[in-house]
Amino acid sequence: MGASVPDHFEQMWADLEPIGKGSHDGGYYRQPFRNAERELAAWFVEQARARDLRLETDPFGNQIAWWDVGDVGPPLPGVVTGSHLDSVLDGGAYDGPLGVVSGLAAVDRLRERGFRPARPIGVSVFVEEEGSRFGLACLGSRLATGAIGWDEARALRDPFGVRLDEAMTGVGLEPDDRKPWLDASRVDCFVELHVEQGRALVDLGHAVGVASRIWPHGRYRFEIAGEPNHAGTTRMEDRRDPMLTFAMTALAANKQARVAGQRATFGRVDSRPNSTNSVPSSVTAWMDARCETDEALSELVATIIRQAEERAGRDGTTLAVTPESVSGAVDFDPDLAWRIAVDHEAGDWPILPTQAGHDAGILSAQGIPSAMLFVRNPTGVSHSPAEHAEMPDCLAGVDALAETLRRLAS
Ligand code: GLV
Ligand code: MN
Ligand code: MN
Repeated sequence: MGASVPDHFEQMWADLEPIGKGSHDGGYYRQPFRNAERELAAWFVEQARARDLRLETDPFGNQIAWWDVGDVGPPLPGVVTGSHLDSVLDGGAYDGPLGVVSGLAAVDRLRERGFRPARPIGVSVFVEEEGSRFGLACLGSRLATGAIGWDEARALRDPFGVRLDEAMTGVGLEPDDRKPWLDASRVDCFVELHVEQGRALVDLGHAVGVASRIWPHGRYRFEIAGEPNHAGTTRMEDRRDPMLTFAMTALAANKQARVAGQRATFGRVDSRPNSTNSVPSSVTAWMDARCETDEALSELVATIIRQAEERAGRDGTTLAVTPESVSGAVDFDPDLAWRIAVDHEAGDWPILPTQAGHDAGILSAQGIPSAMLFVRNPTGVSHSPAEHAEMPDCLAGVDALAETLRRLAS
């Protein structure tokens, strides 16, 4: 695949469209260190090359394409934009790639207009943002910023038991535990553009908005063990059925989240031996919970676990719960958000919170001033093949990002 003509958002979008797209329902499968995602990483290298941007890659495969500035004096920390190219299983086209493609297109636009940045501008790609393979959200940006160390990360395994470092060496990457790649001495600020994953901008009638904060959120593994037995001959009252404990827990999570005005979802479940005519021996299920505050998240999760334990007691099953990926609340730098959102010809852009996690949240928590731009999503649907943004809104997003980079790198 050749590099596309620079400054052509639609061409870049068309380049990416087929990569990792499932043939059945049009959803994307772009898991880290698998073919589609590696093809996307190679595409990014070509895009950097076509624009004469200096490509920097860390041991994990995170990438930054730098638009360097003149060589007078020591290099200043840069303004970095970008996002991720991996997707959730059966995901949409926009979550991640929109931010990367818009970053490249914004650089093209600024160059075309003759803008001369006073500090370097970087376009980044972070690996495994979704945690779809190794279970930890924003793994790439966590490793890049030292939010997690290699000692902890290398033990992560995918659902087939492949260790993270094995998956990396399989695609020619060499894991190592050098010091964090990105910090405030290298990155003056980070701005991630992202498709909105709700309907706030539709309701507000704006194509573009700015993030105020990210709700705290976490993933929790529920392991429920029972007694495997015959589905026909085992009397109902003699069973120790982990599926019942799970079923009640899923209902409790939904109810408790609704009562508290928060969010809880069981989206992944694994029953063993997954046999129609057997009482299962175990059920493992993963809960995703998100709340307005850290306290509300702890309280909601504790309530659901308490109800699950009570039910396990009645079912004669056992329960173990392990947090796999927990991210605290992120309040983005309000001054930075304000600097980005105000004083536009067509009025200020709205500033709004999000319940979705992002690499920008990790960089912010690691002390790098960060911000986000959202692009309107007409249905609000995300993490689904139906995720969408209209082309005029995508182009408005590129304009907004170019203007943001101009303000921050002037
Ligand atoms: C990432 O998209 C998340 O919010 O789970
Ligand atoms: Mn996502
Ligand atoms: Mn994303």
